[in-house]
Amino acid sequence: MARYEHLSREELIRLLEARDRRDATRFGLVWEANEVERERALNRDFVALDLAPELGVGPGPWENLIIEGDNFDALRALRLAYAGRVQCIYIDPPYNTGNRDFVYNDRFVDREDLWRHSTWVEFMYQRLSLARDLLAPGGAIFVSIDDNEVFALGMLLHKVFGEGAHVATCVWQKRYSRENRGAIGDAHEYLLVYAPQPELFKQRRGRIPLSEDQAKVYKNPNGDPRGRWRGIPMTAQGYRPNQMYDVVTPSGVVHKPPEGRCWSTVETEFRKLLEAGRISFGKSGDSQPAIIRYLDEVDGLVPWTWWPHEEVGHTDEARKEIQTIFGTQTAFDTPKPVRLIERVLHIAAPGADDLVLDFFAGSGTTAHAVLKLNAEDGGRRRFILVSSTEATADQPEKNLCRDVCATRVRKVIEGYGEAPGLSGDFAYLRCRRLPAGALIDIEHAEVWTALQLLHRGRIEPWRTAPFLWAGDEQDGVLYVPRFRREDLPALREQVRRSTAVVLYSWQPGVLRELIPDTHVQHEAVPESLARHFRLGT
Ligand SMILES: C[S@@+](CC[C@H](N)C(=O)[O-])C[C@H]1O[C@@H](n2cnc3c(N)ncnc32)[C@H](O)[C@@H]1O
Repeated sequence: MARYEHLSREELIRLLEARDRRDATRFGLVWEANEVERERALNRDFVALDLAPELGVGPGPWENLIIEGDNFDALRALRLAYAGRVQCIYIDPPYNTGNRDFVYNDRFVDREDLWRHSTWVEFMYQRLSLARDLLAPGGAIFVSIDDNEVFALGMLLHKVFGEGAHVATCVWQKRYSRENRGAIGDAHEYLLVYAPQPELFKQRRGRIPLSEDQAKVYKNPNGDPRGRWRGIPMTAQGYRPNQMYDVVTPSGVVHKPPEGRCWSTVETEFRKLLEAGRISFGKSGDSQPAIIRYLDEVDGLVPWTWWPHEEVGHTDEARKEIQTIFGTQTAFDTPKPVRLIERVLHIAAPGADDLVLDFFAGSGTTAHAVLKLNAEDGGRRRFILVSSTEATADQPEKNLCRDVCATRVRKVIEGYGEAPGLSGDFAYLRCRRLPAGALIDIEHAEVWTALQLLHRGRIEPWRTAPFLWAGDEQDGVLYVPRFRREDLPALREQVRRSTAVVLYSWQPGVLRELIPDTHVQHEAVPESLARHFRLGT
């Protein structure tokens, strides 16, 4: 290879010895990180978020965010405010098919790229490492992938989250018709699931609601006012003396436990169930006892790794969803079905207020699924989506985030075609890189957005004012963009209304002297932002 031709024999030997020392003793994924061009921005710059109110939905304050930009930038900006706060991360990254499906440092990576796999691994490594910091205790990340990189991705996730964090490798049946092009037809993809604290995740994770097919065993032949039910046979394996009593039906038939079994409950418990009307003796009234279980008592199914298309949809369904929303399937090439993401949410975002992040958002399916699930179960789950513009030198005007992702989410909120609006809102933000040395040039609106996200987890529309306040009687955050003496009485009045206040300003020394109250913590801008951002680390 041309890159080694200029080296002398001694230099080549030294290089090989260094490689032997480095690579010989490790188990795990090794990639040519040094050969791959490093992420250009690697924390030598700060990322500000610019609010574009005209592209959002609703008057604010907003908790749902759609962020336009490279997700490496967006994740660094989000780490400032969301470290340890996200319950569910779902991502569907480019699969590295060789068909120019991902951009690294503003350049498409294709089949001809010598370091194609290493570049993809390095690209994912940087993003997954940032994402790990955002997960809440008990949170989990689900990553979609196909055969192209599944092995590399599994090893990489082991490296980033630890081997013990692996929860499951789920199989999604993406096709319903046969695929005959390859030697063996391709019918599925994977979702790799990792949770940094798997035990905590297990306690928190939700169950899967029964489908109508699974629920059809619940019937209501006797018109029970409590609704559909099924009888669970009241027997258990083995012999337990206090579970071997006689059961007499209303028609006088006497039942004993079947051969090799006992009743599943002791007699006192059985009597209580009988009195409560929770025992069925079948249509005839003289069959063996069964415990009545109502459909509304069923918590759902414990999730498993097999996700068939009948339950979670297939690629064709996803394309039809795009067609219905945009009137054409060409609006977006690789969407996932809403039902697939809903399955992820049932498992990893069962809490009514859970926060869901997708930083390869594409057409915005994840927000669609969050809004749909909220509409179904009355939840208030929030979403943060990150999408690139996909603009290139050939298509400089392309803006996937604005024209597909945000447009779709807007339509889902407001309604489209036959589909009624699901209600909801979002703020639209753009990433803006500021070189570390130029942090002084940060806009006041950008400071205020960052501070609100950091302290309140929501953003109000920007307005020009002597100072900006967000909070309540307990605590709040204040930002003084440019201090003027005449604003001091109003400022003093504002800080008195809360028990704890963090006051950000460009002149913290002056303000500390003028407002020395012990419940006010003075912070300097932009230094405090750089610290929260972990600039330079
Ligand atoms: C497979 S698609 C995701 C599809 C999505 N799950 C859906 O249902 O619509 C991957 C997306 O990641 C985006 N992407 C690739 N590199 C990115 C980056 N560095 N930052 C942000 N988005 C990126 C691509 O533009 C593409 O839209």
